[in-house]
Amino acid sequence: MSVKLRAPKGTHDLFPPESEKYGAVENVARRVFGSFGYGEIRTPIFEPTELFGRSVGDTTDIVHKEMYTFPDRKGRSLTLRPENTAGVVRALVERGLQDTPRPIRLWYAGPQFRYEQPQAGRFREFRQIGVELLGVAAAAGDAEVLTMLFRFLEALGFTDLSATLNCIPSGAAREAFSAALREHVRPRAAALGPEDARRLEENPLRLFDSKDPDVVSILAGAPATLDFLDEESRRHHEELKALLGQSGVRFTESAAIVRGLDYYTRTVFEVASDRLGAQNAILGGGRYDGLVAQLGGPPTPAVGFAIGEDRLVSVMTADVRPERSVFWVVPDSKEELAYALAVAAELRAVVPDATVESDFGARGLGKGLSRAAQILADPGRYAQRAAGVRAVLLGSREREDGNVTIKDLETGEQQTFPRGQLAERLGAGRER
Ligand code: HAM
Repeated sequence: MSVKLRAPKGTHDLFPPESEKYGAVENVARRVFGSFGYGEIRTPIFEPTELFGRSVGDTTDIVHKEMYTFPDRKGRSLTLRPENTAGVVRALVERGLQDTPRPIRLWYAGPQFRYEQPQAGRFREFRQIGVELLGVAAAAGDAEVLTMLFRFLEALGFTDLSATLNCIPSGAAREAFSAALREHVRPRAAALGPEDARRLEENPLRLFDSKDPDVVSILAGAPATLDFLDEESRRHHEELKALLGQSGVRFTESAAIVRGLDYYTRTVFEVASDRLGAQNAILGGGRYDGLVAQLGGPPTPAVGFAIGEDRLVSVMTADVRPERSVFWVVPDSKEELAYALAVAAELRAVVPDATVESDFGARGLGKGLSRAAQILADPGRYAQRAAGVRAVLLGSREREDGNVTIKDLETGEQQTFPRGQLAERLGAGRER
């Protein structure tokens, strides 16, 4: 017996209406981000493996143990992207940033891959919607990105969310902070597991990624990131907070947010939802002023974020799918099939945004109608958000006279009129 095929662990199929929610969220992103001048970028789903070590960082969990890495047929090492910022920067550097007018405003949506232990809200294939702003060093850049993020979240019905904000030391200040962190943790190093012991030696900032309660409590008394900021970073942070206040972005500060990727400099932020379980981060982002140069481009400041789309959709209560009027076309018998196709085509042409589905059973109007009722009532099968559902009944009488009979399935009202009047009776601007 052959083994039953299943989706790989940590992945999930998206059926309507779930898939429609994702599409609708992406459309809102396109609209809101577009209104700020952000254009959509699409980069490859796999990249040279080296890219992620040089950006996300070799000692991060993502690169250290979560990447899907494989040789292609010529032996090149490729990796399914675990995130999209590195790919965006690689693409821009490859095209030549020198000639691109600044600022550069980009957004993206697409699948990412991390070999993590699956649990609620944590998958091996998940989707992100992200934004990258390049070429703006001022805190106004961070403020734009965060303001836009909250406009997007509001458009999806999230009005109670706030950002958790921090500013992490960069350059020499980061070295000093790492040293202080090491000093703080070393006397208690016996309590660390092998993973955290490695973090302590290689990259102490990564200890903040640890879920071990002992480490969390050791870090509770650790030196604070904000105490290590150089003067300019401090000013940047203060300016950002003032700008966020002005634009009504709600935030709290937390020294514990350092983010699990190495490329961040200064601003880092996350947004969490109480409605998610242990994996409660809906999104994360921050400034990464060194990354473009690190990947071979000209020094270019940058800031961005990525939203976990699966997590976002799972806590969304607003229905942002567009409403469509629905017509279910029922030919009485095989004789009416051609007539039904012609009427369906005409309906699509005259009623903007209508969904016109045909029933090909052709085993009587009654059977067709009961099938319509079944399908329209099944949310798993019927994806559209309906603004009025009507059946178009086409029997031999209608076909011979060139008429249509339209039955409103919500009110039961029914009318017969010449097919030539479809536009006039149902077209744009008409009442139902
Ligand atoms: P990140 O924090 O690694 O940042 O991921 C952003 C979001 O993706 C997380 O907050 C979470 O909602 C979602 N996410 C991450 N891993 C999973 C998973 N295994 N399953 C489901 N959702 C997940 C980045 O990726 C950065 N590139 C963000 C960024 C853009 N920073 C600057 N620009």
